[in-house]
Amino acid sequence: MILGTGIDLCEVARMRAKIQAPADEFVNQVFLPGEIAYCGTKRHPAEHFAARFAAKEAVVKALAGTGGVGSFWRDIEIMNEQDGRPVARLYGRAKELADAQGVRRVFVSLTHTRDLAAATAILEG
Ligand SMILES: CC(C)(COP(=O)(O)OP(=O)(O)OC[C@H]1O[C@@H](n2cnc3c(N)ncnc32)[C@H](O)[C@@H]1OP(=O)(O)O)[C@@H](O)C(=O)NCCC(=O)NCCS
Repeated sequence: MILGTGIDLCEVARMRAKIQAPADEFVNQVFLPGEIAYCGTKRHPAEHFAARFAAKEAVVKALAGTGGVGSFWRDIEIMNEQDGRPVARLYGRAKELADAQGVRRVFVSLTHTRDLAAATAILEG
């Protein structure tokens, strides 16, 4: 059973500016070490960071009742299977919310160009 869906867009240029300055503050506030390592291996890291940012937002949108309860960035990790398929892992408050709503699996899909990144999320119960 589908329990929720979410979608989000992120401009790559804005992400590029955020990940370049100042220091690594933004990157470390929003992304987990595995995500940072993955994006760092890519020729255009900002595209991959932007897609992960959009995916986190999409998951938050899909989870009901997330408004006003603080930052979820590091409670949602977007990684890749060996074949490249993205997967979302939930921790902390995001996992608690998902468990409370009966979510058993989170599906995400990512796409990115030089300018824009987008992601969708589907929660299965
Ligand atoms: C995997 C594939 C779909 C990615 O598409 P793309 O247009 O090159 O790139 P996009 O920007 O749209 O998508 C990239 C994202 O796809 C996701 N992805 C990679 N492999 C995937 C797979 N096997 N399944 C689902 N998603 C995949 C990743 O999340 C990737 O972003 P990330 O590296 O930041 O995590 C593509 O490379 C591919 O292999 N297509 C199959 C080719 C084919 O058969 N084409 C004929 C279609 S009729």
